[in-house]
Amino acid sequence: MSDHKLASVPLWQQLQAVAQALAQVRRGVSGTAALEAVPSTLRPGVQALLFQALRHLGRAQALRGLLASRTPAPLPDALLCTALALAWDPDNAPYEPHTLVNQAVEAAKKTRSLQMQANFLNACLRRFLRERDALVKATDQDLQAQWNHPAWWIHRLQQDHPEHWQDILRANNQAAPMTWRVNTARTSRANLQADWDRHGLSSACVGEQGLVLTQAHNVRDVPGFAEGLCSVQDAAAQCAAQLLLKDLAPAGQAVRVLDACAAPGGKTAHLLELLNDSSEVIALDIDPQRCERITQNLQRIGRRAKVIAADAAITQTWWDGQLFDAILLDAPCTASGIVRRHPDVRWLRREADIAKLAAIQKNLLKQLWPLVKPGGRLLYCTCSVFTAEGENQAKTFVEHNTNARLLPSLGHLRPQSGTTATALVDNLSGDHDGFYYALLEKLPAL
Ligand SMILES: C[S@@+](CC[C@H](N)C(=O)[O-])C[C@H]1O[C@@H](n2cnc3c(N)ncnc32)[C@H](O)[C@@H]1O
Repeated sequence: MSDHKLASVPLWQQLQAVAQALAQVRRGVSGTAALEAVPSTLRPGVQALLFQALRHLGRAQALRGLLASRTPAPLPDALLCTALALAWDPDNAPYEPHTLVNQAVEAAKKTRSLQMQANFLNACLRRFLRERDALVKATDQDLQAQWNHPAWWIHRLQQDHPEHWQDILRANNQAAPMTWRVNTARTSRANLQADWDRHGLSSACVGEQGLVLTQAHNVRDVPGFAEGLCSVQDAAAQCAAQLLLKDLAPAGQAVRVLDACAAPGGKTAHLLELLNDSSEVIALDIDPQRCERITQNLQRIGRRAKVIAADAAITQTWWDGQLFDAILLDAPCTASGIVRRHPDVRWLRREADIAKLAAIQKNLLKQLWPLVKPGGRLLYCTCSVFTAEGENQAKTFVEHNTNARLLPSLGHLRPQSGTTATALVDNLSGDHDGFYYALLEKLPAL
């Protein structure tokens, strides 16, 4: 949608849609699904405001606690918290705070189910404008207000990353840039970057094959995308295929690779870009609809994998009995490492999810390990920063499997923002999400 059209959508209408989406997220619906329900003409503006509101929801909830004697019903509360999240910090507010308040009250008046609460919302928000500095100060000691994450999440990070929990939370609250992986089988990074430059797209290098665009663009407008010369993928995620295939086989030798949790196929595509044509890749995912996306994504880069919809842990339903040289297990996880890109995740998860997902990851590891050839390898990864889904999982696995050896691995990558970010020691340089990588080698039988 053009800026002109966006500007013509009244702010109250956008705030109404943001509040509805926020109420959905609080009911457990993902931000992506909540935004799908928003008319396409409103969606870009609503998404930007929703993401900002989610990044400041902890502060907003603490302020609402001071302004309202009890928590309002879900929709008025979502509208009140949206207005507070967007207006509490005038230096970073997307609109002038008075405008936001006026338009939030207008949204209440124009929404049938909110009309009865319009006066209440007006009273809360006017008081907020009058007493903002004092109210904000009164919430400064509240951990959730300070870091905009649930308290359990903050405590968990303090426990798992005692020296870096603040860096992680700070990075989580930044918006992530648009990062691309160059298909080096078809072009070089320097060539693609030069082509982008000629089209007025400035970028910076990240990792071995990545380019970070200075400004996000519609993917279809990015030179090389339609031809499969590049794909959107975070720099930390780009390490998966590189690590799994590094020194795996002499050049030209065909290998058999399983991508066990493959959809939507970002890492499958990368594996295929790095492998020769005679290698075989099997891409598995439990979700048949997401499997269709693997096929579509591979079509764009002009490569093929055998795509199977199945539960990777129930090997008798899909495995043909031939061992694999390499298995990528990009396991389902809390996604606690990618909250820069998905600011809803922190509010959707419950602490109990960590143990539930860790049990699923443990079982996937157990079931897939026998399918690795002696001398072959399995790369276990999650886009999580919680050690229960990373380091602890890998340690326990190696302790219980005498034929498994941990090869040099990246371990826990902590998210960091900014293309020149190199401040965190023992982390990848550049801008990237949080991830965990453990490369396990299967020792030959004695
Ligand atoms: C982190 S995502 C994978 C992302 C993908 N590797 C990529 O780079 O595009 C995890 C995937 O695991 C799938 N999944 C969850 N449980 C599974 C299981 N038991 N067997 C196979 N796939 C599973 C989910 O449907 C989801 O698509």
